Amino acid sequence: MAFDEDKFEAFINSIEYAAKTILNVIKNDGFVHIFSHLDADGVAAAGIIGKTLFRLDARFRIRITQWIDEKIVGDIISDKPDLVIFTDFGSGYLNTLSENVSNFKIVILDHHQISGDETANVVQVNPHSYNIDGAKDISGSGITYFVAKAIDKMNVDLSPIAIVGALGDLQDKYDQRKLGGLNEKIVEDAVSAGLLTVEKDLVFFGRETRPIHKALALTTNPFIPGISGEEDKSLAFLASLDIKPKHGEKWRALRDLSEEEKRKLCSALADYLLSKGLHYKVSHLIGHVYTLKNEEDWTPLRDAREFAVLLNATGRMNRPSLGVSICMGDRKAALEEAEKVLAEYRRTINKYLGWVMEKTERMKELENIYVVCGEDFIDDKIIGAVSSILSTNLPNPEKPLIAYAQVTEEGLAKVSARTIDVVTCKGVNLGEIMQVAAEKCQGNGGGHNVAAGAQIPLEQIENFLGIVNDLVGKQLKGENVGS
Ligand code: C5P
Ligand code: ZN
Repeated sequence: MAFDEDKFEAFINSIEYAAKTILNVIKNDGFVHIFSHLDADGVAAAGIIGKTLFRLDARFRIRITQWIDEKIVGDIISDKPDLVIFTDFGSGYLNTLSENVSNFKIVILDHHQISGDETANVVQVNPHSYNIDGAKDISGSGITYFVAKAIDKMNVDLSPIAIVGALGDLQDKYDQRKLGGLNEKIVEDAVSAGLLTVEKDLVFFGRETRPIHKALALTTNPFIPGISGEEDKSLAFLASLDIKPKHGEKWRALRDLSEEEKRKLCSALADYLLSKGLHYKVSHLIGHVYTLKNEEDWTPLRDAREFAVLLNATGRMNRPSLGVSICMGDRKAALEEAEKVLAEYRRTINKYLGWVMEKTERMKELENIYVVCGEDFIDDKIIGAVSSILSTNLPNPEKPLIAYAQVTEEGLAKVSARTIDVVTCKGVNLGEIMQVAAEKCQGNGGGHNVAAGAQIPLEQIENFLGIVNDLVGKQLKGENVGS
């Protein structure tokens, strides 16, 4: 096992304590405010805790937001809930919480780096307190799942949702895109409950059921410029390889390809990416595929990675309640609507990526980082997804990418920083860098070592980028940048 069993026990104790705290409030018919993060992991976490409380017949309300700010604080103060639960964020905002809402009972179920000190009113479950890697071994929805299971064993049926959340946070960092660490325990739960299968194959969405060109076009990791989002070009690409898209009248799916054809496809894709100046490891095209067995074949919920993209889409396109209700078990009309949102989200991402790639000066290279300025063209809620996709496709993959969008009406820059494991192994911690640099620029930053973000006053952006560039250089030299 990749983690230490003693630490694991302490971690489980903190989970049980959080479960008891929640149950006590509900037994007394308390009203619960749930706030969760806007990305796939946050939406999944909200769905898990929502379903858990629903099953207990509790009184609760869910709100999904991008960060914790004075609006949330104001909500809490005016509504006076008996309990506030933060999922997939909270640990980075302990000071804000202690300054403003220290007289409210608060449970935080998070896996972001902890910043500030918790006050006595806060029950916090966070893997970082137990030396467990919050960036790749457990997600916000994973922690929420463990708490849900401690509340009632029947919530084991929510395990696939936690796997979706972990994949949404790109935690498949073990060999061949496998989920490891505590995530592996959740996978075991889901497999034993007969809800999930794990196989090794090409990691394109709908590998079992979709026509091959559609599977290639719909997948965003890897993002293949000129093929992702473009079904006709994807068909032409297959034709150039002499891979037949149909068998008689029937479209073939990726699983119908022979081993020889799969090899040909992988190496051609890697060559193609290289011809675009992108270094993508062929081995990344094959990996562990997580299939939700009870979902209909053709839906985006069947493949856990695609399910995560759908949740991300609902969050980022201002429809998070759709994503939450799907995680709570809603299908039919909710799913139909979410599929429309997903299609729109894919179009939007393609538009943004096309825009960035249209002019070389839109991606600047500094000494230690790449910088993409989304101006006010890229929506600040979507800059994170754009940053994740671009970061897998950099000319020099070892330079962190800092992308930002302008939120002109609020006078803010929304920053999304991404890098890869190789760079964090050399000492770079983007969560720490975002926190330190944002503080120096009157902003707020934090996150994980590989993926982090910040909000800072717009007029500080050049200063901020300079500081980030310096801090990356310092961490690469092994210097402590202090947080
Ligand atoms: O917004 P984005 O997806 O780029 O954020 C990357 C990660 O950093 C997220 O998990 C987010 O919650 C975290 N973050 C943070 N504090 C901030 C901004 C982002 O912890 N101020
Ligand atoms: Zn998360």
